[in-house]
Amino acid sequence: MPAQAAENSATNGYEPKWWKEAVVYQVYPRSFKDSNGDGIGDLKGITSKLDYLKKLGVNVIWLSPHYDSPNADNGYDIRDYRKVMTEFGTMADFDELLKGVKARGMRLVLDLVVNHTSDEHRWFVESRKSKDNPYRDYYIWRPAKDGGPPNNWTSFFSGSAWTLDPATNEYYLHLFAVKQPDLNWDNPKVRQEVYGLMKFWLDKGVDGFRMDVIPFISKPAGLKDIPPEYLKRPQYYYTQGPHLHEYLQEMNKEVVSKYDMTTIGEAFGVTLEQTPSLVDDRRHELNMIFNFDAVRLAHPGPQWVGWKLPQLKAIYAEQNDKLGVHDWNTMFLSNHDNPRVVSTFGNDSKQFRVPSAKLLVTMLLTLKGTPFIYQGDELGMTNYPFKGIADFDDIEVKNAWKAEVETGHISAESFIANLRKTSRDNARTPMQWDASANSGFTTGPKAWLAVNPNYREINAAQGEKDPESIYNYFSKMLAFRGTTKAFAYGSYEDLDPKNEKLFVYTRTLGSEKYLVVLNFSDEAVSYSLPGGVKAGKLQISNLGKAEEVTNALKLRAWEARVYRQ
Ligand code: NOJ
Repeated sequence: MPAQAAENSATNGYEPKWWKEAVVYQVYPRSFKDSNGDGIGDLKGITSKLDYLKKLGVNVIWLSPHYDSPNADNGYDIRDYRKVMTEFGTMADFDELLKGVKARGMRLVLDLVVNHTSDEHRWFVESRKSKDNPYRDYYIWRPAKDGGPPNNWTSFFSGSAWTLDPATNEYYLHLFAVKQPDLNWDNPKVRQEVYGLMKFWLDKGVDGFRMDVIPFISKPAGLKDIPPEYLKRPQYYYTQGPHLHEYLQEMNKEVVSKYDMTTIGEAFGVTLEQTPSLVDDRRHELNMIFNFDAVRLAHPGPQWVGWKLPQLKAIYAEQNDKLGVHDWNTMFLSNHDNPRVVSTFGNDSKQFRVPSAKLLVTMLLTLKGTPFIYQGDELGMTNYPFKGIADFDDIEVKNAWKAEVETGHISAESFIANLRKTSRDNARTPMQWDASANSGFTTGPKAWLAVNPNYREINAAQGEKDPESIYNYFSKMLAFRGTTKAFAYGSYEDLDPKNEKLFVYTRTLGSEKYLVVLNFSDEAVSYSLPGGVKAGKLQISNLGKAEEVTNALKLRAWEARVYRQ
């Protein structure tokens, strides 16, 4: 057997890679830890908490944008890719952070936001000056059509995706905020600029990039109107540009292939069927993508619709079926764009918050795909009790309020009630470090976004101290996951896809076989394992000691168990 094939047989045919075995922790710098009392998290704050992350046991940190930005969209609007956001600190602070990460044997992945820049970026400042400016072609400009925008494209932050710029009387394209003009990737100079800035950070030693809305970089040919069937979900149309694969392959050749790094595409609008075309390792495009089917199950559009366990299982089963040994997947149920995991997929009531958060951790760390954990999930942080529009910071919410509530399309009450379940700001409230004022996030009088009032009970100090905490269970789960490669590379089988309360599956790698049993309900459930399956030896359980059994299980509400068969 050739060496590579022999090696891969120990990993179920997958080529072993550090990023396939990693567990990634996402830091949203604005809300993580403030070191200077201005109410905004910063890089020094993150560095001061590296021991906390090391102790938890994660091995990769994904840092949401830390670049210079006027913050129309909290850093996802970049003014200077080679400068650190003033509120977050200096380049020296960044270097210190990177050094601290490396010193602890961890890795750092940055956010690459290159579908668009800020309108305050030097390129756009030039571009808008005149039609013959050398930077004009860095962005997408079009004349009016019939006295209005060039086409019917809509922005994800409400309204048209085109804004008329009086200086030249042409429209520029922005799929997000007015202050986030889309770059013109068809211009080779733009692509070279991007490769240059990637190298700038990689040469400092960072370990990869999470790529913001990367499938939008090539715009659909001819910038035609969105066809009617895509009007409700334009993201599935915006991903259909003809040059996406060509540009990603070029990026791979010019940059990615030269470093030991990872690439994770935020693939909003990419279907599961299209996924291999981006992640198949023979294509040299991306290592893995974020597929939104699971995280958006309960709110596929702006409106909360709820979810059922068999639907979630069906998503994972389909992912398992459609992705082969040349593909790789991510596993996540939260990030800075979604509500809190325990409030969405668990039960955040006093009675069940802790067990359900632990159950979700058990699931995320034992399903197939590199797990991505969002800051605060290790503490079981919950959604925020929003009362009115003044409680929000998010531009998406503020624009939608103007477009929906101020125009009388929807009442303020139902708008806010929906946001309590769906808003991105749920995830952006400051980290809850301890029970002191402002949850120990800042020493200043006020955090940039209000701290969740439940911080006195839910905080990291409590988590570290209490042996039964979510934090300590998380850490135990991570250590357990580290004892085997079965959860990274093992095959996956759902033993009871239709069961409405239980999620029961196996992960198998060679002779190692694990059985995971999760009770996603508020009630105790008696359960006979199907097909003569025997539970085996209990490895870990979220409710402490579980009864020893053969094949008839008695699961308590939100109980999670992992057995080795
Ligand atoms: C996806 C990011 O995750 C989100 O926070 C941002 O608003 C948009 N892309 C635009 O960059």
